[in-house]
Amino acid sequence: MKKLYGVIGDPISHSMSPVMHNDLFKVYGIDAHYHPFHVKRGDLEAAVQGLKAINCSGFNVTVPHKTEIMNFLDDIDPLAEAIGAVNTVVNKGGRLIGFNTDGRGFLEGLKRNFAVLDSTRVLIIGAGGAAKAIYYTMAHAGVKHIDFCNRTAEKAAQLIEACPFSVQSNIYPREKAENRLSNYNLIIQTTSVGMSPNINASPLSLENLGIGAFVSDIIYNPLETVILRDAKRRGAGTQNGLDMFVFQGAFAFEKWTGIFPDIERMKQIVLKHLGGK
Ligand code: ATR
Repeated sequence: MKKLYGVIGDPISHSMSPVMHNDLFKVYGIDAHYHPFHVKRGDLEAAVQGLKAINCSGFNVTVPHKTEIMNFLDDIDPLAEAIGAVNTVVNKGGRLIGFNTDGRGFLEGLKRNFAVLDSTRVLIIGAGGAAKAIYYTMAHAGVKHIDFCNRTAEKAAQLIEACPFSVQSNIYPREKAENRLSNYNLIIQTTSVGMSPNINASPLSLENLGIGAFVSDIIYNPLETVILRDAKRRGAGTQNGLDMFVFQGAFAFEKWTGIFPDIERMKQIVLKHLGGK
């Protein structure tokens, strides 16, 4: 029988996961279909129970459910537990197991474009599920200075408190972060601000961006957000969320099927659908 996979989130219409995974199922001869499910915050528990009841084989989890979903799964992989967020669920014999492939996906993608050193000074914008995974993974990789700028300071404080690695972290409100931006070599934008369809929004002004700084936005739709356009205009190196997206998807696909898929093909499929190059 054809297997069902999917992604749950709100918003969800922008997601390229369906075209990417459906292409992979075809290429690797797997009889399965991947569907986007629009699930609002209050409906998460019912949605997870429903996916379990219909024996969905696995699904991805995106904004705003990556943390909340942990309450509704049968088991959580230790890495996802430590990160405190789940973006991939595997149905193992009727039990839903949560994994996190975001942090690993982000670092794999970043390393292709930027040399991460222990001395790299990082500012993370946002403190949601994706930020958690990135923070944990960068700290685990040895980065010693990682600050936060988030609308809700308390959420960033919880991330810092929960991190088991030796890392120095402060939380700055938007204006303060903007004023001291020249302190950072790497700015990582993890909020949904600027994501399609609200493509004219930016979470931070880059007026004080330091020379040689690199700006990474985990959004891939649009391929160039307002903040990335601004960074390029100022001569900074930039990276959109495509590499992270493709790598997190590849690690998820591997968990579901045992196959590590063709990264370049995945990238091309997503780019084709986004109309980029
Ligand atoms: P997920 O856990 O799936 O990553 P999330 O918890 O909603 O989703 O995280 C999204 C991040 O984007 C959060 O840091 C959120 O800020 P809050 O912690 O204050 O909720 C941030 N975010 C979303 N919309 C925003 C907006 N309009 N302005 C500033 N930050 C925003």
